Amino acid sequence: MSDPAGLSIEDLTLSIDGRSILDGVDLEVAPGRITGLAGESGSGKTLTGMSIIGLPPERAVLGGAIRYGGANLLELGDKKRNALRGAQIAMVFQDPAASLHPMMSIGTQLTDHVRYHLRLSRSGARERLVDLLRQVRVPDPEGALRKYPHQFSGGQLQRIAIAGAIACEPKVLVADEPTTALDVTVQAGILHLLRGLCDNLGLTIVLITHDLGVMSALADQIAVMRHGKVVEFGNRADVIQRPAHPYTRSLIDALPDRVAAASLAAKEVG
Ligand SMILES: Nc1ncnc2c1ncn2[C@@H]1O[C@H](COP(=O)(O)OP(=O)(O)O)[C@@H](O)[C@H]1O
Ligand SMILES: [Mg+2]
Repeated sequence: MSDPAGLSIEDLTLSIDGRSILDGVDLEVAPGRITGLAGESGSGKTLTGMSIIGLPPERAVLGGAIRYGGANLLELGDKKRNALRGAQIAMVFQDPAASLHPMMSIGTQLTDHVRYHLRLSRSGARERLVDLLRQVRVPDPEGALRKYPHQFSGGQLQRIAIAGAIACEPKVLVADEPTTALDVTVQAGILHLLRGLCDNLGLTIVLITHDLGVMSALADQIAVMRHGKVVEFGNRADVIQRPAHPYTRSLIDALPDRVAAASLAAKEVG
């Protein structure tokens, strides 16, 4: 268990080729909690996440601050930023296959990653990986290390990608639409896993999803983005049951089962 760390995003702006995309994002990411970032496609959720991990598009011009551990991440040099990425702030993406090399066994690629960051021996790294795969509930962890990405289902692959992301014991995990590409039947398992990592490891999670249903089941706090701004932010139950912004209300009204969402919002995912 590490000391949880939060992030404070202050007036974050991002423009590409003179076009303003993030228009002053303000957001408090509470340590050791799940902060959900919701909003329609194109509202700037992914670029906010990429800014947090220090991987915005090359042409992007950023302003404002992302405060973490006493520093403004936007002002760090490349070396410090690269050291933070992966080690303290990690990310998982919508398509787990995209973060894994198709031609390398899971064991080879994750072992290299862990050895590099944690300076472990080959056997030490493998032990750590078996442990991690067990933690994310991949069946037969030892066998899994010998397999290649295409030999797993999407849900198992997302578990493996999450294991890779948390291998170096980051304090913050940015999860961008982690269940969007998955079969509905396996989505709940991944969400449950994220909840467990937050509760058991004290991981601070930024959960990005356009799906307010997912959000209402999982996030402790919800921010709703629109046109590059956070238009609503609050505790989950407050946002779902008493949205302050008409845009949030329209999203909630569009949920297939908003009554269920409201009741989910009132209790934790077990
Ligand atoms: N690499 C890029 N270059 C130029 N524009 C981009 C790039 N990535 C995203 N955008 C634009 O920025 C806006 C916000 O994108 P994004 O953060 O991906 O939104 P979301 O994740 O909420 O769907 C969109 O209009 C998108 O077209
Ligand atoms: Mg996105």
